[in-house]
Amino acid sequence: MAETITTDMVIHDVVTKYPATVKVFHGHGLPCTACAVGARESVAGGARTHRFPPEKLELLIKDLNAAANGEVTSITPKKAPVGRGVPLTMANGAPDRKIKQVIAIMSGKGGVGKSLVTGLLAVSLRRQGQQVGILDGDITGPSIARMFGTKGQPTKSANGGIEPLRSKGGIKVVSMNMFLEKESDPVVWRGPMISSAIKQFYSDVDWGNLDYLLVDLPPGTSDAPMTVMQALPLDGVVIVSSPQMLATMIVMKCINMVQQLKGSIVGVVENMSYFETPKGERYEIFGSSNGAELVGMTGAPLLGTLPIDSALTTLCDAGRVEEYYAEHYEELAANFTNTLRIKR
Ligand SMILES: Nc1ncnc2c1ncn2[C@@H]1O[C@H](COP(=O)(O)OP(=O)(O)O)[C@@H](O)[C@H]1O
Ligand SMILES: [Mg+2]
Repeated sequence: MAETITTDMVIHDVVTKYPATVKVFHGHGLPCTACAVGARESVAGGARTHRFPPEKLELLIKDLNAAANGEVTSITPKKAPVGRGVPLTMANGAPDRKIKQVIAIMSGKGGVGKSLVTGLLAVSLRRQGQQVGILDGDITGPSIARMFGTKGQPTKSANGGIEPLRSKGGIKVVSMNMFLEKESDPVVWRGPMISSAIKQFYSDVDWGNLDYLLVDLPPGTSDAPMTVMQALPLDGVVIVSSPQMLATMIVMKCINMVQQLKGSIVGVVENMSYFETPKGERYEIFGSSNGAELVGMTGAPLLGTLPIDSALTTLCDAGRVEEYYAEHYEELAANFTNTLRIKR
């Protein structure tokens, strides 16, 4: 018989000691186990953060104890929802699906680090041995190819599709830059052309077998995000925010759009959370963290809080993002894969 799990125990300690309780948290709609908040928050605190009805806390505790003791619980496992308009044959779990998970990286605002989070998430997933592709959905302002130093014109694959470029670490990349004569050539396209380019990047590119296809999106809630949400077999969205962004409500627009289109938010990432000096002093340059509010608004876990690091900017500009290593990004990727595993 396991020791009794109580509301004041730290979530991380509960799930580490009794892994069977992870499904109970998620079955009750609490993503805290894959959340940075869960590392220090109690069961009661996590429940409050996620606006869990207090009257259901007793049943949650009962189920956690039942799971820890290998007994029957009141919950049934949940299936991850897919984006609206997705043909059922393409939905997750279909036997012929070569791309296992399609995940979009979104934020209402530009310059918040969407492309950087996409790139570094891809790098960490690749280090875990996963097959990863990046579809650069920012047609008019692509930045992924530059970050990975991938250059070259598109070629035909053995199957007659478009062969993606490959980064040094083996990440498959498709970006509008590949189709321009000069990287600096502008793409002066209206919405429908942008939408059709994104669809073609998905369907005409020979991605092969992938564990994850990450779709980097431009800011805003118009053509590109709408196309990705409605026309691609999307499994989930990662929302990127920064501390001061919540005040502008731009991130809220983005979250509302995903929810209106019945998309699934995998988690939120707070970028540029703080700056740490070599002596370990922390400065919250853009204000204090809004991680808990984001979790409350989305009902999704906080996958990571990322510091400002000038080394990162230098490596990105030099096309050497794959040489960057920091614990935060490994944690981000681990929280991301854990959340998706549990949602399945
Ligand atoms: N945590 C960070 N530390 C240092 N530089 C960052 C960080 N996040 C983003 N940047 C830099 O800020 C700029 C904007 O980031 P980017 O990922 O292009 O934003 P977005 O795709 O949201 O427009 C880039 O030059 C990027 O390298
Ligand atoms: Mg970008």
